[in-house]
Amino acid sequence: MDVVEYDRYGDASVLHVRHRPIPTATRGHVVVRVKAAALNPKDVLARAGKFPWLAGRTFPKRLGYDWSGEVVEVGPGCGGLRVGDALFGMIQSWSAGACGEYVRVRADELAPKPSGLSWEEAAALPLVGLTALQALRDHGKLTRGQRVLLNGASGGVGVHAIQIAKALGAHVTTLTSAANCELALSLGADDALDYARWTPGGTFDIVFDIFGNRPFASMRHVLTDRGRYISTVPKLANLVAAARSIVSRQRAFVVVVRSKRKDLEVLSELVARGALRPIVDRVFPLADVVNASKFIETKRARGKVVLRVAP
Ligand SMILES: NC(=O)c1ccc[n+]([C@@H]2O[C@H](COP(=O)([O-])OP(=O)(O)OC[C@H]3O[C@@H](n4cnc5c(N)ncnc54)[C@H](OP(=O)(O)O)[C@@H]3O)[C@@H](O)[C@H]2O)c1
Repeated sequence: MDVVEYDRYGDASVLHVRHRPIPTATRGHVVVRVKAAALNPKDVLARAGKFPWLAGRTFPKRLGYDWSGEVVEVGPGCGGLRVGDALFGMIQSWSAGACGEYVRVRADELAPKPSGLSWEEAAALPLVGLTALQALRDHGKLTRGQRVLLNGASGGVGVHAIQIAKALGAHVTTLTSAANCELALSLGADDALDYARWTPGGTFDIVFDIFGNRPFASMRHVLTDRGRYISTVPKLANLVAAARSIVSRQRAFVVVVRSKRKDLEVLSELVARGALRPIVDRVFPLADVVNASKFIETKRARGKVVLRVAP
């Protein structure tokens, strides 16, 4: 099978499509014939060697956490799964490997592919959809009628966070570049502001700093007395702010996405009732993985960057 590998940390040029044996199913795992795989900033960070203590120092390494595809082999202990099932999911492990023709995945990190979505759309959803859902629902404790500010609302996490916040009943304000305000409004945002012209103001129950350039300290004055701030960036300053906030009324959190079947099913239900639609900016063939990676690194994608692996 063809699969994307790299032999050292570095820029996108370290990525190569190689021919390797198809994996076999083991206990609690299935082997999937991948139809599409999505790229995330996590792929870029892992490949660049930003998390060697998590990703490890053994090579070759593989690329890709998000996938959609069909089951070709079922290991023992995977009750309910059958060869031919159409699924989507997110690989939690740093071993990755979704960017290839076949991948072995855990049976509790997948769910049936939402009907009505293309393979590319289904692959676009897991990591960013789970991040937005877990940030807003679990850390934000979002309830109907609350006011939410989303910073960086036009990227992979953002375009799905807008729709999920609206589905949870929020009043949504977005911060994007001027060029992307219309996109945010088209996805349901109530107010879409250009971050270049925004003087921090207003009052929000939840601030979700998706892009990661507006720290808790700089957002406290736009939070309500019991407001919640969530960052996507697990750097020390954010972790310290989160720990310190335990004793304050305004709370800070850092979301760390978890791959869970139940939450994938929540995303599917939102898709089924028309409340959530994956937004794909560009689709590249698997062989063009270097250019796909370079594009996501521009930090200008509107929604997701997806690799088409098989028809
Ligand atoms: N902790 C976790 O579990 C977790 C999970 C998922 C993602 N993340 C992190 O969350 C961040 C966002 O992920 P993503 O998938 O949404 O990334 P992405 O798709 O690469 O984000 C691209 C978007 O960033 C926006 N952007 C660029 N400069 C900006 C600025 N100065 N202010 C606000 N927005 C700006 C761009 O919009 P404009 O062109 O309009 O500026 C573009 O639409 C990444 O750092 C990622 O690593 C963390």
